Amino acid sequence: MAFISAGYVADLAAGEVREIFVGERPYAICNFEGSFYAMDGECPHQGGPLGQGRLDGVHLACPYHLWAFDCRSGRCDRDRECRVATYPVRIERGEILIEVP
Ligand code: FES
Repeated sequence: MAFISAGYVADLAAGEVREIFVGERPYAICNFEGSFYAMDGECPHQGGPLGQGRLDGVHLACPYHLWAFDCRSGRCDRDRECRVATYPVRIERGEILIEVP
């Protein structure tokens, strides 16, 4: 795995989420109260774009049918068995770096 740039801290305010692509694979990058989290960008329900969803506290809601996922753990609030993969994040010189496969 390698760390990939997911943009800059200054461009993602607290409470916001951004969709990025590494190749053709989408990821959702969340800023929860100044801490950054990365998760898979494809909703396990029906493939909705999680990176285009809405962040409410730690809960990222899918824009299609509003299933919500904890941006820290990837856990779904509707089904304990359902979880989205999360990835390590680090910040270097104002840049958000995510470690993805
Ligand atoms: S596709 Fe995400 S909630 Fe249905």
